[in-house]
Amino acid sequence: MSNCLGSICEVKSDKISFFLSKDTALSFGQIVRVDSGAVCFYARVVNAQSKSTLETSEQLREAEGKETFGPYSYYKNIDAILFLERKAGKVRSPTFNPDYMDKVYPTTSEDSKVLKLAGELEIGNLRSGGQTLGRVGINIAAIPRMIGMFGMTGSGKTNTELIINAQLIDNSPRTAGLIFDFAGQLLEGKELGNKGLSDYPLFHSRVRFYSTKEEKLRIGLRTLQPWKLRNLYSDITLPQYRLAEKLYQQLGDGWIEKAREEYEQNGRAGVARITHAHRETVDALMRKLFSLDPRLFPPSTHSFIEDVIRNIDQGITCLIDISGMTSEAQHRVVCLTASGVANHYKYLWEAKFEKWRKLPTLLITLEEAHEFLDPSKEATIFSAIALTYRKYRVGLNAVTPRPSRINPDVFAELWTKVIMKTELKIDRDYLTRNTPYLEYSDTEVKMLDIGEALLISEPKIRFAVPVKVMHYPDYLDRQEQVDYNLAQSKTLEAMDENLKRLRNAGKNLNTN
Ligand SMILES: Nc1ncnc2c1ncn2[C@@H]1O[C@H](COP(=O)(O)OP(=O)(O)O)[C@@H](O)[C@H]1O
Ligand SMILES: [Mg+2]
Repeated sequence: MSNCLGSICEVKSDKISFFLSKDTALSFGQIVRVDSGAVCFYARVVNAQSKSTLETSEQLREAEGKETFGPYSYYKNIDAILFLERKAGKVRSPTFNPDYMDKVYPTTSEDSKVLKLAGELEIGNLRSGGQTLGRVGINIAAIPRMIGMFGMTGSGKTNTELIINAQLIDNSPRTAGLIFDFAGQLLEGKELGNKGLSDYPLFHSRVRFYSTKEEKLRIGLRTLQPWKLRNLYSDITLPQYRLAEKLYQQLGDGWIEKAREEYEQNGRAGVARITHAHRETVDALMRKLFSLDPRLFPPSTHSFIEDVIRNIDQGITCLIDISGMTSEAQHRVVCLTASGVANHYKYLWEAKFEKWRKLPTLLITLEEAHEFLDPSKEATIFSAIALTYRKYRVGLNAVTPRPSRINPDVFAELWTKVIMKTELKIDRDYLTRNTPYLEYSDTEVKMLDIGEALLISEPKIRFAVPVKVMHYPDYLDRQEQVDYNLAQSKTLEAMDENLKRLRNAGKNLNTN
């Protein structure tokens, strides 16, 4: 066959080597097919080297121009790792390996069907050398099995988030998204050709946008019961927590305002009069309560989080723009909102199972995920979500340029991984060491281009698929305009007929 890439020269367990035919193109990570009698094997290219049949000393003398040797051969030797075999229409992990001199081919569209890479949430196409083949996507069932998206700044993470969330909106009310936007990019698509979620055809009916600019982001103090304090202050101690509970029992819903007033007027003794506690505990808790920014936490009974919960309940995706806040305030808003929503799912699962079944499968997109899942910091609601919220159909998409700062226990729970270009060695090492099927892909992760990714989505996709992610502006162009199910308007001819009749009727009236 003319498109043959070469033939196998060495095989050892799951590692194959083949000679690359002259004038054929190949790239790191490319998937190739080996035809071996009745069996087909699929393998990933992990290494390449050029060699000649000359001895080193002969090569040196020729390079220095001292002597010429010949005739001799030079060749390119490719290493690849087997990951699948196809026998009698069945696809599974390899049970054996190919033979010497078996032929190697690039994958075709037919192969990409065999590999079953398509999913409900499409992210792009299979890359094979310079070409792109069939569609690649993640299944909705993969959402609660947690997702991680890694890549250095500029590698294309935000673009991929937009693609995934646009399709969550498409699948509403079966799915919904809760998105925390730290850079204020997603609504208008700054740096993405100025195309953001607001350009999405279904934006107005299926998305709600919250930002501080329109004063929509407010969490009333009276909605903050003591058990929510852990999401506000990750370093709160048990005695401080107990004091807060006592104050709440004594003072009721307005406990934060009343305790603050008392402290301002009568100092720590005032608060201690309400409920006995150590001076240090009183001071520490009061410092925390005074640190709440009144623009974000006004003395009211309204909280935007309740609105978010109502919307998500209906399959409406919520985009929360937290750009421009201090990182402390961002942390508070993000943790309070996520825990409010996640606990709604948990509560319905425990108390109203039928209602829970009607809830959309939720994906929480969290940029800067390393700030919330760092093993050297206090645990946040997000590690609980990643570890235990699968059964409630709450999924997390942890997005970060620094995967090595993600708690390894949480990292192991991210069954779907989208890996984009990563240069920092410590992060590459972490990714390749802790992700199955990526052991040999270190060079590849470094060499990925913008918008190129490796996708693993267990249990469905058990190898690293090279993907070219769709560019969001192109994706929008491809979307048909929304069909609002309006009645077809009449043709111009029919309207003309009507006009003629009206005109004639008018004339008749005049002549009468
Ligand atoms: N799949 C893609 N195809 C083409 N261009 C892309 C793709 N993904 C991202 N880009 C471009 O690369 C730049 C950085 O992308 P972005 O998603 O903001 O990266 P990150 O969030 O990782 O910093 C943007 O200008 C964007 O338009
Ligand atoms: Mg980004």
